[in-house]
Amino acid sequence: MTDNPYRPGAAHAPPYLAGRDAEQREFSRLLEQTPILENLVLTGIRGIGKTVLMREALRKDAAENGWIWMGSDISEAVSVSENHLARRLLTDLNTYSADWEYASDERHPLGFTNAPERRTIRFNYQTMMTLFEQEPGLTSDKIKRILLIAWELMQTNMPDKKGIIFAWDEAQNLADRSAANEYPLGVLLDVFSSLQSQGVPFMLALSGLPTLFPKLVGSRTYAERMFRVVTLDNLSPDDVNEAITKPLNKEPEWIQTFFNSTKDMIYDLTKGYPYFIQFWCRELHDYITDIRPSTAEKDAEIIERITRKLDMDFFEARWARLTDRQRDLLNIIAHLENSNGEFTVQEIVAQSKTGEQAFSGSHVNQILNTLFEKGMIFKNRHGKYVLAVPLLDDYICRRMDGDDARPTQIKRS
Ligand SMILES: Nc1ncnc2c1ncn2[C@@H]1O[C@H](COP(=O)(O)OP(=O)(O)OP(=O)(O)O)[C@@H](O)[C@H]1O
Ligand SMILES: [Mg+2]
Repeated sequence: MTDNPYRPGAAHAPPYLAGRDAEQREFSRLLEQTPILENLVLTGIRGIGKTVLMREALRKDAAENGWIWMGSDISEAVSVSENHLARRLLTDLNTYSADWEYASDERHPLGFTNAPERRTIRFNYQTMMTLFEQEPGLTSDKIKRILLIAWELMQTNMPDKKGIIFAWDEAQNLADRSAANEYPLGVLLDVFSSLQSQGVPFMLALSGLPTLFPKLVGSRTYAERMFRVVTLDNLSPDDVNEAITKPLNKEPEWIQTFFNSTKDMIYDLTKGYPYFIQFWCRELHDYITDIRPSTAEKDAEIIERITRKLDMDFFEARWARLTDRQRDLLNIIAHLENSNGEFTVQEIVAQSKTGEQAFSGSHVNQILNTLFEKGMIFKNRHGKYVLAVPLLDDYICRRMDGDDARPTQIKRS
């Protein structure tokens, strides 16, 4: 048995990172700024490849260009309070700063003859927290002060480094909580814009779902100018081709031949969404290496079986959380011509009139809001809607009316 090279799964590094050249170039340009005027926002829907692009490509680019990369996943806990945010930043910093010398003093032990002892205070988490607590003023002032000291110390301790990238994934979890009078997101933006205006080369690279950028702008309007927004889309047919075939360089010829002849079909099945590419390739690889030798399964059955597995793994849990009304509305959306792109309330209303249930505009709006809260749709900045889960429309058509445009033969060419 040969090893299966494909890697479906959140944050699993793909065997070959296909495409994304333009996005990497954007980031490289941001690295060249002195002073920093723009930070990175990397967005896109679930499974589009944000995490692996950050970890596999941008991190390396930053390191090769002399930047320190501090990567973290942002949990909702960071949004609990401004103090949580401060601790998150200082914890990240501590990874590098823990042995930087912050201060030293000489202590004279009791007795005349004993030589003075030199004591060094390092810029570790404890020191930073002590400074944080002693510093008067707002949380943002306290954090700024510590980061300014960090930058000073960094220039002596790591003189060959250009700056620090604070790379935060799942950053859509950041939020201000006005009811609790806690504004961690606002504080984050204040701190970085202020430091950057003083010439400190600390940059934010935030990645997250498409709700991220509107949240930033909602917290501070100047965030609009502070970030370069890079949106990940599905991969082009050429990129998909590479994602499929490049990992097979060391595989036996017959496996390469199989995937060469099925790559068009895989593109049709996945529409270029990275997670689905890894998923289909992994299943097909298992099929030809392990299953095929001992089964008489027909092509149509194989495609059906893998699709069912994909539905179970990716869609079912999301679908199970919805009410009947929400499902009905999604079903109408799935039958729109532009279900895979942007759509409007008016289009949904019109489509609903062609079926059994007509929805009014206000009713559609109301259900869309609940679907937004469940992370099933996004509203973009032009007031249009998009499905938040890739290929959800195909899944709904399969599920609701068995309407299935999947191929029934594995080989195409
Ligand atoms: N450019 C690419 N080429 C090939 N495979 C990719 C590419 N980008 C992502 N993948 C694969 O797609 C899957 C999803 O990637 P990743 O977890 O980075 O997505 P994400 O956008 O961070 O999703 P989420 O919003 O759920 O965190 C992984 O299996 C990964 O290996
Ligand atoms: Mg991710």
